[in-house]
Amino acid sequence: MSFDNLLKTPCYIVDAQKATELYKNFNDLIRQNGREDIVAYSVKANYNPSILCALNQLKSYFEVCSEYEYRMLIDIGVPEDKIFISNCAAFCHDYARAGSVVILDSIEQMEQWCCKKPDQQFGIRLNLNDVTTDDRFTNKTSRFGIDISSNKFRFLINKREIRNNLVGLQCSLSGNSRDPSVYSDIVNRLKMIENELELDNLRYIDIGGGYKTGYKYWTFSDYIKTIYIENNLYNYKPKIVFEPGNSLVKDAGYYCTKVIAKKELYGEDIVIVDGSTMHLPKGYLKSCEYDIVQDNYTNITSKIQKVCGATCKESDIFFRLQDTARLSIGDIIVFKQIGAYSMYDIGTRILGPMKIYEGSIDNYVGTKKYKNIVSGL
Ligand SMILES: Cc1ncc(COP(=O)(O)O)c(C=O)c1O
Repeated sequence: MSFDNLLKTPCYIVDAQKATELYKNFNDLIRQNGREDIVAYSVKANYNPSILCALNQLKSYFEVCSEYEYRMLIDIGVPEDKIFISNCAAFCHDYARAGSVVILDSIEQMEQWCCKKPDQQFGIRLNLNDVTTDDRFTNKTSRFGIDISSNKFRFLINKREIRNNLVGLQCSLSGNSRDPSVYSDIVNRLKMIENELELDNLRYIDIGGGYKTGYKYWTFSDYIKTIYIENNLYNYKPKIVFEPGNSLVKDAGYYCTKVIAKKELYGEDIVIVDGSTMHLPKGYLKSCEYDIVQDNYTNITSKIQKVCGATCKESDIFFRLQDTARLSIGDIIVFKQIGAYSMYDIGTRILGPMKIYEGSIDNYVGTKKYKNIVSGL
């Protein structure tokens, strides 16, 4: 069957199974290491319903940062006690149902919480910029969280309604280095703070997201082992909350665009596809993988082929191919690893609304791909 019957390009494809496999792997590693820690998928990375439903079936936890994401989860039946809300904006947690853990980002929010919800559990995000003062970092500081050395915080933390309901400490430094040792240091610091403040009701140590996985980087196992071994967590009661976004879903998304026109210009083949580089995240093309899928494989090679988007923007160029099989009208280019911070975050109006298909990539593309190209590496 030709692609035209299966895909209306340009389009995205979401393969939720890729995300669930990684989730299961992460979760299994935690259990194999004898702990009951939590993997809470960071919904902002990709809120496609097929991903959310598949993870919900596996009884996953979730992390959200907006009412929109929260309601989406409730609508598909995620239990409220499986949701962490880390909304760092002004106090706007009225939508949060009892059972969810709201992570407060400021002393002002803590004061409001005391008045409005004196009986409801919550967590707090701490600003631990001092963890970042070594050469693993580029001296980036975080604007999030609470300065726990301030007098105001010290005063509030001694209030009964705060102490009774404070169940979580969070610190996420995801804009910085993703080295496992950073996460280990965060756990170490949060444990020290728990002891120092004598937080007897603490149930969660939440270390946010930002895990960088892949063959050039680390594995979930590297993160878990480093954190558990360095902090000797084997008998530690509060649960560590991991909030992976990108690392769970980046492999679950594809962008497909079809060759619709060709011309020759000064000895180069100009190949025009129906999509645009504007459908891809910024910087993505510098190091990406893609397959070229041809209905009719040709072994006629072309010296230079410049593959361009369908807009009249001069710089709308995907890549140049040298001495590779000649592309024909109807061929499809499948860009990989586009599942995180892409399909819902990038303006798609430039060439009209785009369809998002759900299911296994193999159902659409099959085995016809002729080339797996890694660019920019
Ligand atoms: C609190 C928190 N959790 C989770 C994430 C997800 O990060 P990533 O998609 O890089 O894993 C972020 C990212 O900003 C975050 O701030």
